[in-house]
Amino acid sequence: MPIPHIKTLLPGPNAKAIIDRDKTVVSPSYTRGYPLVIASGTGSAVEDVDGNVFLDCAAGIAVNSTGHSHPDVVKAITEQAQKFLHMSGTDFYYEPQVRLAEELASITPIRGGVRSFFGNSGTEAIEACLKLSKYSTGRQNIIAFFGAFHGRTMGSLSLTASKAIQRRGFGPMLPGVYHAPFPDRYRAPLGADAESCAEMCVDFIEHQLFTHLVSPDEVAAIVVEPIQGEGGYIVAPDEFLQRLRELTTKHGMLLVADEVQSGMGRSGKMFAIEFTGVEPDMMAIAKGIASGLPLGVAVARAGVMAWPPGSHASTFGGNPVSCAAALATIALLKDHLVANAATVGAHLMAGLRALADKHPLIGDVRGRGLMIGVELVRDRQTKERATSERDAVVSAAFAKGLLVLGAGKNAVRFSPPLVLTRTEADTAIRIFDEALTEVETTIGGNRGAR
Ligand SMILES: Cc1ncc(COP(=O)(O)O)c(C=O)c1O
Repeated sequence: MPIPHIKTLLPGPNAKAIIDRDKTVVSPSYTRGYPLVIASGTGSAVEDVDGNVFLDCAAGIAVNSTGHSHPDVVKAITEQAQKFLHMSGTDFYYEPQVRLAEELASITPIRGGVRSFFGNSGTEAIEACLKLSKYSTGRQNIIAFFGAFHGRTMGSLSLTASKAIQRRGFGPMLPGVYHAPFPDRYRAPLGADAESCAEMCVDFIEHQLFTHLVSPDEVAAIVVEPIQGEGGYIVAPDEFLQRLRELTTKHGMLLVADEVQSGMGRSGKMFAIEFTGVEPDMMAIAKGIASGLPLGVAVARAGVMAWPPGSHASTFGGNPVSCAAALATIALLKDHLVANAATVGAHLMAGLRALADKHPLIGDVRGRGLMIGVELVRDRQTKERATSERDAVVSAAFAKGLLVLGAGKNAVRFSPPLVLTRTEADTAIRIFDEALTEVETTIGGNRGAR
């Protein structure tokens, strides 16, 4: 069966029937961009309930790191499920959780002793980082960045500054959270340019926040995504993270790297912060760690993760089946998938960059490994955001059998399973090319009709 292979109108009749049922009983807060109803998946291919086959460059929001239902992961899950499903690491011990903590201590870029706290999701990993930062420093305030997405529970939501709709109606937020501009080189903030924006964003913290709003000795942590995910797949310049490290060390704050989306091999290194040589004090990890089973981890220097029994825990966190899936996932990542993300990612990036020659909608192509964002603009000079066009391109790609998601207001994100092959990357580039052509032709037609 070729991938993709679309044989019905979309959605097909079976998909439509499920979506109609969903409409009346499932929370309307979800953001479905197009009507995909999955029946099964293998590697980078997803089959829907009508037998249509899609090439997956979304991976369930950057989660299916080893591809859909990788046999090694399914085997590990099955074997663990046959032994026991749950015991709660809060009150009991089990070896898979210890083994995973040992594994994480060896793969995270933090030297010395490292400890892990296990939850079920990215937002729980961030909540743990927040609480631990406050506990360990005895300080109350946190600094995060505009454009950041750290989750949707009240603590992490208070750090999230991606889209106002995510916060609207839910205030007040956690007190003591301050936001600074993020150094987006394509849209450099603060009147800076691509080269100077990293420095100016750190200067903003030092000379604006610390002068006017919060004393540095009362800041517990700076929380940062090495590559902003939901914000638009924006890579932080290396020197930005290096200067944040200097700043946090100088003032006794913790540096927390949110690697929920950029971690677990997606960037072409196990963690995106490794590109910068910076050692964080704490990391939030989730999404790709267990290939799709729910797991979130806050990893910290052992000296920092020194809170007493009862101070933080979770009934389900570090579920043994999720731990088994994570161990199998990490083995595959170390064996060849991180390397594949780097090489196939470079190939995909080059192919997408080449499309800019023929598609005026493309303003910027950026990312690392298989974490690539394509920002669409109406005009390359003014960089006017092509928001509706972005949505149209994502929908056109879906109709042609390619699953991608939006990120930020006007970027398309490519976050495929890390098993993506060069041939599949070529297919993705070809379909994206066709989707752009279709949308550009429609816009041209509309302009002509006006
Ligand atoms: C960088 C980052 N942090 C945290 C989260 C929250 O993760 P979850 O949705 O698993 O709670 C996300 C989710 O997209 C994320 O991208």
